[in-house]
Amino acid sequence: MASKSGWTFDDVPDQTGKTAIITGSNSGIGLETARFLVMRGASVILAVRNSIKGAEAMDQLTSSHPGSEVEVAHLDLADLSSIEDFADWFTDTKRPLDYLINNAGVMGIPRTTTVDGFELQFGTNHLGHFALTGRLMGTLLDNPGSRIVNVASNAHRQGVLNFYDLQSERRYGKMRAYAQSKLANLVFTTELDRRLSRASRSDVLSVAAHPGMAESNIVKFQPEITVHRYAENIWEKIGPFICQTAADGAIPTLRAATDPEAVGSDYFGPNHRLQIRGPAVKVEAKRAAYDVHDGRALWEQSVELTGVDFSVLDVS
Ligand SMILES: NC(=O)c1ccc[n+]([C@@H]2O[C@H](COP(=O)([O-])OP(=O)(O)OC[C@H]3O[C@@H](n4cnc5c(N)ncnc54)[C@H](OP(=O)(O)O)[C@@H]3O)[C@@H](O)[C@H]2O)c1
Repeated sequence: MASKSGWTFDDVPDQTGKTAIITGSNSGIGLETARFLVMRGASVILAVRNSIKGAEAMDQLTSSHPGSEVEVAHLDLADLSSIEDFADWFTDTKRPLDYLINNAGVMGIPRTTTVDGFELQFGTNHLGHFALTGRLMGTLLDNPGSRIVNVASNAHRQGVLNFYDLQSERRYGKMRAYAQSKLANLVFTTELDRRLSRASRSDVLSVAAHPGMAESNIVKFQPEITVHRYAENIWEKIGPFICQTAADGAIPTLRAATDPEAVGSDYFGPNHRLQIRGPAVKVEAKRAAYDVHDGRALWEQSVELTGVDFSVLDVS
């Protein structure tokens, strides 16, 4: 039972017999999520775009936790055909899927596009995970109790879904596009929850989490997102005092995936002030994340853009 102040790793129940797919799990929060799940006995599929980095992550996990079940599979969320190939591969294995953890992400980059021409942050962080979830929906529905966990961010609070320009073609701001993609993660979570409920499949949970501020490659200053050399130097000094570790940043994701008391649309994050660090508690997203009209509009545009329609959820 979790303490009132929130979950730590000690609260994660035994996961023997469970299978998790974790996107972007060769580093950062995804890798730490994988590590904790194998420590609790789950088998884990590292769904990564770089097979060499994936193999290194797998070696790290299996050498520190001998006997753990870890696999690497290729998945590039910026390429719809790669998503289809990955989902077909997993579906063909006919294995039950307990957790689809939509963790991979890119942040704060100059405007560029995915293979299919989508703005890269919206395309990877939202559309890629939307398509992946849709393609694995049948497998998830075959396993009552399965969960979809979307990894969002405090940045969603600055996000606005611009339905007239979701691809930021008219106006691009690198952090604005990131914030939009992270709000989209939450709007997708709540809309999927409503659709599962309408299909009388609330036994499958659509939930979300955010890591606060955690040390990882995404928050390290990169040349493209560095405003000023001076700011970079300051960040190098104070960053470690502000951020929590990537391992601590994985706890909200773990809670979203494994808390027996979680319900659809739940959102977990760190408990401390401003939700930057600390044990994982249930948190509220901003109101727009729960907006029914935005949920429907984002869903319809995502279906149109990706060609993935979640028809297995259709109620006759
Ligand atoms: N760290 C934080 O403080 C923080 C705060 C809020 C939210 N988040 C969210 O946490 C999640 C994990 O990020 P992180 O902090 O752990 O950063 P990270 O270490 O950079 O991890 C991001 C992962 O996503 C992968 N990825 C990027 N594009 C991909 C693509 N097209 N296909 C497949 N994988 C792709 C990266 O692969 P490569 O190694 O090949 O690049 C990497 O494994 C992200 O969704 C991020 O938005 C992080």
